[in-house]
Amino acid sequence: MTEIEDWKYISLGQIKSTNDEAKQYCLEPNQKTIVRAESQTDGRGRLGRKWASGKGNLYFSMAFEYDLRNVGDLVMISSLSLAQAIENYNSEVSPSLKWPNDVLINNCKLSGILIEKGEGNYVIMGIGVNVVTTPKKKYLLYKATSLHENGINCTAEEFLIAYVKKFNQNMLSLQKAQKLMLRGEWLKRACGIGQMIAVCRNNKLERGIFVGIDENMALLLNQRGKISKILAGDIFFNHGDIR
Ligand code: BTN
Repeated sequence: MTEIEDWKYISLGQIKSTNDEAKQYCLEPNQKTIVRAESQTDGRGRLGRKWASGKGNLYFSMAFEYDLRNVGDLVMISSLSLAQAIENYNSEVSPSLKWPNDVLINNCKLSGILIEKGEGNYVIMGIGVNVVTTPKKKYLLYKATSLHENGINCTAEEFLIAYVKKFNQNMLSLQKAQKLMLRGEWLKRACGIGQMIAVCRNNKLERGIFVGIDENMALLLNQRGKISKILAGDIFFNHGDIR
């Protein structure tokens, strides 16, 4: 297969990182490319972390032209599309969304998204999904789960196709100015809104009530009546999600 929907599709064996590999597809205008790898030797996550990348799970990056001033919209639709693809597979599974863009099932992390700037107007959006296995506990900041553990027995490639369909639909809705509807769908699945949470940023832990997200997907934290906007960090709830 060389295409998924309107995306050029490149499927590789073991490489360092699909985010690095995808950089070479940012050179000509109007290209939309997906690079997938069977495994990665140097998979990376948000905030400088490693992303364990053994065989069986899904690792891919999408390289396309996008205005990074609207990165919040991308954060919103990419995580929402993952959740919707899961719901389509099995309507009894209820994924939730953890700010900024993790998908959880039963409070355990299923996937992560790393958005980086490519050449020129290009963005590279790398996504890792635990399809068949979860990484060893010592590598984890959060408890993890997989699609197979939740009764969704698809292959990495099948899930990729389901995701791309949803992503394309949501991107189209965004272009048709249906951002409010998409935001509503994201918030419907969001976890922790209205709760006391801990936010870790720059190695400091702050507590406050998670009151919502703004139009750029910044987290709004109420700390004794003062609302702070948080653009990047990790959040923790009270249900023992820290290993
Ligand atoms: C996170 O920290 O939650 C984000 C993880 C992103 C991992 C994916 S796997 C495919 C792509 N290539 C990488 O090196 N990282 C991303």
